[in-house]
Amino acid sequence: MSAVRERARRVTIRQVLDTAIELEKRTMALYVAFMRAFTSPAEVRNFWFTMARHEAAHCGFLTLVETIIESDKEIAQTRVLFDPGVVTRLRSLLAAYLREARGKVSLERAFEMAVDLEASELEDLVADMLKVVKSPEWRDRAIRLLIHDLGDLSYMVERHTKNEVLLARADALLERRRGGLARPASAAKARKA
Ligand SMILES: [Fe+2]
Ligand SMILES: [Fe+2]
Repeated sequence: MSAVRERARRVTIRQVLDTAIELEKRTMALYVAFMRAFTSPAEVRNFWFTMARHEAAHCGFLTLVETIIESDKEIAQTRVLFDPGVVTRLRSLLAAYLREARGKVSLERAFEMAVDLEASELEDLVADMLKVVKSPEWRDRAIRLLIHDLGDLSYMVERHTKNEVLLARADALLERRRGGLARPASAAKARKA
């Protein structure tokens, strides 16, 4: 496939939604597999349960968006910038990790997979899609819901592994997410203008 065909293009929110829901569900399935694999200590099991619950909340939120666009044709037909390459990468990463999780996986490897998945641009893509939703307050709340508290992930890596490289990646991801939240919506709009 040519690089040109893989580049970002404009698609309707309707098309992005189906894909996003599918990917959120598969991420949730992986975290549930980890919750079942790492039953002790309790804080580790609870951590995976919380990660899975966050993905469940993302699915629920996207289902709400689905219902909203059903009654708003204008929003449903709005086109957003979408990079199929992001989806292809995340989908194949998830397929490989779900396969790997069927076998024996170390806790450190499970954290590594979580950092890889959380660093993917799915949340960015969905947050981008929300820009067409007219209520800034509603949109901000939705974006907050889409973003995990990645502080837990960083804490878990620090506490349960000696992997400095992975810890640095988890911390960088946490900073990136926090930075994204801190930026006021008006500033983001001004940058685009
Ligand atoms: Fe998610
Ligand atoms: Fe996530």
